[in-house]
Amino acid sequence: MKSIFITGASSGIGLATAQRFAKSGWTVYAGVREQVASRFDEPHLHFITVDVTDTVSLKQAAQLIEQEVGHLDVLFCNAGQGLLRAIGQATSYEINQLFETNVFGVMRTIEQCLPLLKAAPHGSHLLATSSTSGLVGQPLNEIYCASKFAVEGLFESLATYYKPFFSIDVTLIEPGAVETNFTASVLDRLEQSGGLHDDAFKPIVETYLRLYRKRHATRQASSEIAELVYALVHMNEPKPVRVRTTPVDEAFVAHKTSADPSGLIGITKTRQLTLNLE
Ligand SMILES: NC(=O)c1ccc[n+]([C@@H]2O[C@H](COP(=O)([O-])OP(=O)(O)OC[C@H]3O[C@@H](n4cnc5c(N)ncnc54)[C@H](OP(=O)(O)O)[C@@H]3O)[C@@H](O)[C@H]2O)c1
Repeated sequence: MKSIFITGASSGIGLATAQRFAKSGWTVYAGVREQVASRFDEPHLHFITVDVTDTVSLKQAAQLIEQEVGHLDVLFCNAGQGLLRAIGQATSYEINQLFETNVFGVMRTIEQCLPLLKAAPHGSHLLATSSTSGLVGQPLNEIYCASKFAVEGLFESLATYYKPFFSIDVTLIEPGAVETNFTASVLDRLEQSGGLHDDAFKPIVETYLRLYRKRHATRQASSEIAELVYALVHMNEPKPVRVRTTPVDEAFVAHKTSADPSGLIGITKTRQLTLNLE
């Protein structure tokens, strides 16, 4: 039976993806920070306690998966959060928290799970939820964008050698706006830390939010991203290094990606120049 481990699976994209794979009979390890009584394990869906800022919890998750199924066919690094504060406004704590989750959390997850991906009998697939914010820097979103650019750099680098040497495909999912708790959580945290300050940044963030909402009048459902992840895992080689998830998002990043939308041209060239691989 095939197995997948998903971080950030308490809600949104992670939960929808967990349910999608479980429905098709995969053994799903769905990482959640808190176990809640209303959430039930199903025959194929196991909620395990994982905080990506806590190495011990990831180590325990990897040990459990090793004992129960011995390998991972898919690892989906999805846990993440946003931050709508400018440099100069955000506290060191807020910035550290964001990078601990979005960047170091992804590195820790891969570190603990790489042996399980390598142990998959027929190759495996490593995916992360990046964002269009991993490709295009945006006003007042500089800290979140920096974190997702870091994930892009990490995954692009791994893609150069994980596939040829370890049979691990590497793919970045790059959504723009998905109907999840994400935006509400960002705005909640903003309110809890004093709301929008009445300063020079305020009109900029207000305009940014107004145009963001206009551009994304309709948000994607989490289930669409889940279907995309399922399709990517099952598609024939070569699998893309990066994928946008709607035409609006494709248009938003086109100036960065139009020469190489899937990232495969770049990866092939880098493999040739740095590893002498054809
Ligand atoms: N929604 C969008 O418009 C959008 C667009 C582009 C990219 N993304 C990315 O999509 C990913 C999933 O977000 P979502 O939209 O599905 O929002 P969501 O419903 O808020 O899900 C975020 C998930 O990440 C988890 N998480 C946060 N910090 C964590 C930590 N330290 N350890 C483990 N889990 C943690 C949350 O757990 P708790 O329930 O415990 O907080 C939750 O399960 C994120 O990486 C986000 O950056 C979202």
